Amino acid sequence: MKIETFEIQYLQEAKDALKSAFFRKESDEIFNEWEFAERVLRSEGYLPGLCFIAREKDKIIGYNALTMASIGESKGLALGPLGVRQEYQNQGVGSCLVKESIQRARSAGYPWIVLLGGAYYSRFGFESGQPYGITVSDNPFENAHIQILFLDDKVKNEVSGKLIYCDAFYDERGNLL
Ligand SMILES: CC(C)(COP(=O)(O)OP(=O)(O)OC[C@H]1O[C@@H](n2cnc3c(N)ncnc32)[C@H](O)[C@@H]1OP(=O)(O)O)[C@@H](O)C(=O)NCCC(=O)NCCS
Repeated sequence: MKIETFEIQYLQEAKDALKSAFFRKESDEIFNEWEFAERVLRSEGYLPGLCFIAREKDKIIGYNALTMASIGESKGLALGPLGVRQEYQNQGVGSCLVKESIQRARSAGYPWIVLLGGAYYSRFGFESGQPYGITVSDNPFENAHIQILFLDDKVKNEVSGKLIYCDAFYDERGNLL
């Protein structure tokens, strides 16, 4: 398995991988992450060179994106959507995608990476955004899921306030998708 930089010709296969990761037959309510990924890739938030695929032989088996974000006055990156084909999960693919994303963000000089997510991310050094006063909406549930990884410890005292994703993350009323 290897990690490669995403290129637009991989779009359909990357969406298929995300669909395999997120689709559950028993739920019609599930958020459509694969169409959302395309929406982001076609927006100004897409940063060529900071979206990744995992490839096993000729098959794309995982995907992760980093996109532009800000918290208060500070500019950084947001992680996701992240997904690994169901049959390849729990084999380290997601970890490789996240680690490569972190390394590339660090090399590019970004000070932090933020995401909305669960327990999976603490193993990479992500910590709760709450002690830093980071919010994403008026919804306490969403705010409780903010996690941040500081790539530059010097900015820790400066990063606080509202997390703003690129436009593709919001509906026409300005609500987070
Ligand atoms: C979450 C996901 C990206 C992880 O990738 P992966 O390649 O399966 O995971 P890895 O092999 O790198 O890591 C496996 C470890 O993560 C844990 N893990 C996997 N999914 C997890 C989750 N949702 N929450 C907490 N831990 C999780 C596993 O229990 C395992 O733990 P261990 O190392 O202690 O045994 C992948 O399972 C996936 O695509 N899931 C469905 C889509 C999804 O939930 N995406 C993330 C949205 S926030």
